[in-house]
Amino acid sequence: MDRYAHVTGWGIATPERILSNEELTQFVDTSDEWIISRTGIEQRYIAGPGETTASLASQAACRALEPTNIEAHDLDLIILATSTPEHIFPSTASLVQDEIGAIRAGAFDLSAACTGFIYALNMAAQAIRTGSIENALVIGSETLSRYVNWDDRSTCILFGDGAGAFVLQASDKPGGILSCIMRSDGSGADLLSLPAGGSKLPASHETVDRKQHTIQMKGREVFRFATRVMASATREAVEEAGLQLEDIQLIIPHQANKRIIESAARGLRMPMDRFILNVNRYGNTSTASIPLAFFEAMDDGRIHDGDHLVLVGFGAGLTWGALAMQWIEPVEKPTRRIQRRRRWIRWYSRIRSFIRRVLRKIEGLIWGAKSHSRKDSNE
Ligand code: UT7
Repeated sequence: MDRYAHVTGWGIATPERILSNEELTQFVDTSDEWIISRTGIEQRYIAGPGETTASLASQAACRALEPTNIEAHDLDLIILATSTPEHIFPSTASLVQDEIGAIRAGAFDLSAACTGFIYALNMAAQAIRTGSIENALVIGSETLSRYVNWDDRSTCILFGDGAGAFVLQASDKPGGILSCIMRSDGSGADLLSLPAGGSKLPASHETVDRKQHTIQMKGREVFRFATRVMASATREAVEEAGLQLEDIQLIIPHQANKRIIESAARGLRMPMDRFILNVNRYGNTSTASIPLAFFEAMDDGRIHDGDHLVLVGFGAGLTWGALAMQWIEPVEKPTRRIQRRRRWIRWYSRIRSFIRRVLRKIEGLIWGAKSHSRKDSNE
């Protein structure tokens, strides 16, 4: 029997603080008029001290599980796409796995910049289709504001923080993820990067002084690249799914710049009302932007049972990709038992995590004592 991978849950999380263009003009040499006319952005969310990539991702993940008939224990795999992980290692996905109590799930981070959510969805869908897993959680989460150079007006006005998550489940019902194309061109690596903090340029006083731990971008070049690939990637994904552009009800593009989305619409000869546009409220949230846009489209009743959608994105790497899917309204709803269990499952997982840490400490003390006594007896 054929297996299909369907999106059955979706959720988002945003930081509390909103930073408007007007407020930005108080410390950056820019204007509300310039930002809106060149990008379409009016405001963005900025993470506060207690808000991190993992905390936003965990919130979005719990919300994404709500409409489904499964709980965190039933997840087999967590893929977290991000450009702003909590650490180089461990993966942010593992922190989320612990926080939400997904005790049977494998977890890893995926780095493909703003295209990461599309890559991650495809990886999870492929794992489901091959029969190796049943349930996956795919998250895009970012705290880009932590890496913004507030003295660089060409980048600091663009980025925002937030997270979005999808639950994917196996089904024998046709539909769900239909096709995906993933592309990369590393010759453009220098166009958009965060140069220091990795193994090539480890953190030093020099890298900090040179602001090499902040986002560096050649905006015009990235703009040109984006306008080229958005339309071509969409066409390729649609063709690979055996569809025509006319069959697509809605396109959910990466939200980087309103002008890039308008240019893609022109390239595809499609009206703008078939594109989701919410960059005005969030700015560019990288891997989180597509699930944030999907969530709003769902909330506004713009996605209907049987609709064909294309998710399309581009970003640093350079990377780009597009994914075609057919939205099938999930029939399985959460049972009362699952709803009840969810209320205590996060508490249970916190207590479980705490006990495991304590046990690990005790184990360390016992092993330490044993190896000391072995050394003593050898001497
Ligand atoms: O997820 C992928 C991430 N990146 C992107 O998608 C970015 C793609 N690129 C862009 O969206 C656009 O290139 C930007 C929004 C970054 C810049 O817009 P632009 O229309 O390409 O502007 P520009 O870089 O060509 O700059 C035009 C002028 C310059 O002044 P001069 O040299 O013409 O006098 C800039 O100094 O605008 C100036 N400028 C600003 N002025 C006011 C640049 N940033 C600002 C600013 N406020 N924030």
